[in-house]
Amino acid sequence: MPKIQTIHAREILDSRGDPTIEVDVVLDDGARGRGIVPSGASTGKAEALELRDGDPKRYQGRGVLKAIENVEQVIAPAVRGMEADDQEALDARLREMDGTENKRRLGANALLGVSLAAARAAAASAGVPLYRYLGGEDAVELPVPLVNIASGGVHGGGNIDFQDFQVIPLRAERFSEALHDVVLIYRAMKDVLKARGVHSAGVADEGGYAPRLESNETGFEVMVEAIERAGFVPGQDAAIAVDVAASHFYRHGRYQLSTEREVWSSADLVERLAAWAARYPILSIEDGVAEDDAAGWKLLTERLGKRCQVIGDDVFVTHPRRLAEGMRDGIANAVLVKMNQIGTLSETLEVIRLAQRSGYRTVVSARSGETEDDSMSDLAVGTRAGQLKVGAITRSERLAKYNRLLRIEERLGDRAVYRGVEVFSGFER
Ligand code: PGA
Ligand code: ZN
Repeated sequence: MPKIQTIHAREILDSRGDPTIEVDVVLDDGARGRGIVPSGASTGKAEALELRDGDPKRYQGRGVLKAIENVEQVIAPAVRGMEADDQEALDARLREMDGTENKRRLGANALLGVSLAAARAAAASAGVPLYRYLGGEDAVELPVPLVNIASGGVHGGGNIDFQDFQVIPLRAERFSEALHDVVLIYRAMKDVLKARGVHSAGVADEGGYAPRLESNETGFEVMVEAIERAGFVPGQDAAIAVDVAASHFYRHGRYQLSTEREVWSSADLVERLAAWAARYPILSIEDGVAEDDAAGWKLLTERLGKRCQVIGDDVFVTHPRRLAEGMRDGIANAVLVKMNQIGTLSETLEVIRLAQRSGYRTVVSARSGETEDDSMSDLAVGTRAGQLKVGAITRSERLAKYNRLLRIEERLGDRAVYRGVEVFSGFER
């Protein structure tokens, strides 16, 4: 069994120019693996802690030298000699060493860097791609991509309140075809925004447009127009997914809509979302209410859970216990999966297994601050997650993930499975 021999960490930059941690693991048989950790902007309060130096002299306090020191001085000596292909034992050790609920002592960024790099090294040692290492022979399913077209909220510089308008390609029979359709819709959106006089050069954090729309509802309108302009039938060939990211405009128990200049209760917001879901081909709503709004979550799920996918992001933060509690309380019907929200690969896999056992759909997701690390694509295939949310089809930190899936599709050849529209079967539309 290959054993961990050396671990090295370095500070590199992410897609926002923020420092992040990259970890290299080398095994005693010479196999190597690398893991790079992404970073969110619209983070959930209960996420595992991303350790930053807070030293104002470097990167305005955002350096990660402490996390690096933790990897090299604390973690490396303690896990040297451990079997790289016993991921559970390694991750358990990492958690034990940290010893806190939210991984604040060593930092979730330090832990995840090691966890991922070790998995990659173990896969390399076994001579198999990561998806196959994680999922075995049956890991042949490519996910349906939920692709960012327009951004708002903290990803779009506050142009509108809702954070992320995505397209779900439904017509495609292969992943590569799905990407093709999405590219046409992305291009068509530029024309739609130009015609409305709201197009501006440059892209938002996830590569989509950041138009100054007159209302949040207009986001759905322009999505429908872009789908049509690209030559597709809305609702049939392509549908809409939205990440409301409602936690970020929830204050004192109320939703403060700056675009509408209105204050809504949870019931108002849920009713609006329900009306829009009836008027527009919306198939998926993420964080439709805030992480702390438990009553709102129940209402939203009761009202829309049979008609569309209701995803919990900030509310679950890829945490097995929080997901289990949410399921018990009838919250959401799908979970967003972000490895760095929880901090180890094993706990991420646990969340996916728990969701799948309970009939919750899973959407493997990138962060708004990303890197060229493409392990989440392998995670999506390796766990048959079904769906993937990475951002737009521009910016290479996004393309790294899509292009990885194109390579996996090619490699799998005839064995590749793509469920496409079937992933959403069962909703009453
Ligand atoms: P984040 O956004 O990476 O900024 O948290 C992604 C999301 O909210 O889904
Ligand atoms: Zn989200």
